[in-house]
Amino acid sequence: LPPLKVAVAGCGVVGGGVLGRLLNDPRYDVVGVLVRNPDKPRDVPCPPDLFTADADVLLSRKPDIVLEALSEGEAGHALIRKALEAGCDVASANKQAVSRDPAGLQALAYQKGRRVFWSASVGGGSPMIETVRAARAAGEVAGFEAVLNGTVNFMLERLVDGAAFAEALADARAAGFAEEDPSADLEGLDAAAKVRLLAYEAFGVSPDADAVPRDHLSDQTEAAPGVRQIGACRRDGAALEPSVRLTADHGDPLFSSLSGEGNALKVWNADGRVWRCRGRGAGRWATTESIMADLAEIVRARRADAGLN
Ligand code: HSE
Repeated sequence: LPPLKVAVAGCGVVGGGVLGRLLNDPRYDVVGVLVRNPDKPRDVPCPPDLFTADADVLLSRKPDIVLEALSEGEAGHALIRKALEAGCDVASANKQAVSRDPAGLQALAYQKGRRVFWSASVGGGSPMIETVRAARAAGEVAGFEAVLNGTVNFMLERLVDGAAFAEALADARAAGFAEEDPSADLEGLDAAAKVRLLAYEAFGVSPDADAVPRDHLSDQTEAAPGVRQIGACRRDGAALEPSVRLTADHGDPLFSSLSGEGNALKVWNADGRVWRCRGRGAGRWATTESIMADLAEIVRARRADAGLN
């Protein structure tokens, strides 16, 4: 096959990592990179003519595949839809984008004979989406609990060690764990988007954003040892009970033993079977590897479509 034409949307922590990997891989021809400001200096060496601030210009370069790592939900969601409409396969790391309407995105992809993947949008380098899908394939899922935000986990650990709140936040930002607007991490919005997406994978239904009660991490929070931000969703009959709570009452060493930007998930089925996974939940390389795994999956599927193995 000739090199696949790939467009990258976003050139921040994740988009920049993905771009760096693609530019060094002869299997891919990078045709464009969507950014807010094409003139801003970047930490990845990239030909400047690849940058554009216009999604239509990006798609006019006829990519086969779009890798979406914007930080903003609405813009990301619109781009994914446009890319699928234009006949591209898509992998997204943008939880705010894909949690809006995962069923609609999958339906559009199906209608267009394309694929949309979002493994990188939950759990960074840990296979959370895959673990929930495995549980669902095995039977009826009854609930899940998870540490879904690396920034908050990292900060809780630092606060317990005696760091000041501002210092812990600055360190999380410097490490590339925090969102561009870190209030999304601190107010539980990042974890809530991930809960909604995991609920879609677990139950086939995504709770509304305003149906997820959220505890905020602030300089008033008492960061006692063992406190974790737990994103959860249980099924109670037909009702879903999603939440994002700061609590030490999670009853699982999987969560209390997590350090740094670690993420972990426990999902259980109605028959009592339990699945767990853990890994690095945030940061450039953990998340880049996850989106590259989705890209590899897309390439495998395209080769199969073309009758190649
Ligand atoms: N800000 C997110 C976190 C990035 O800290 O977990 C990974 O989704």
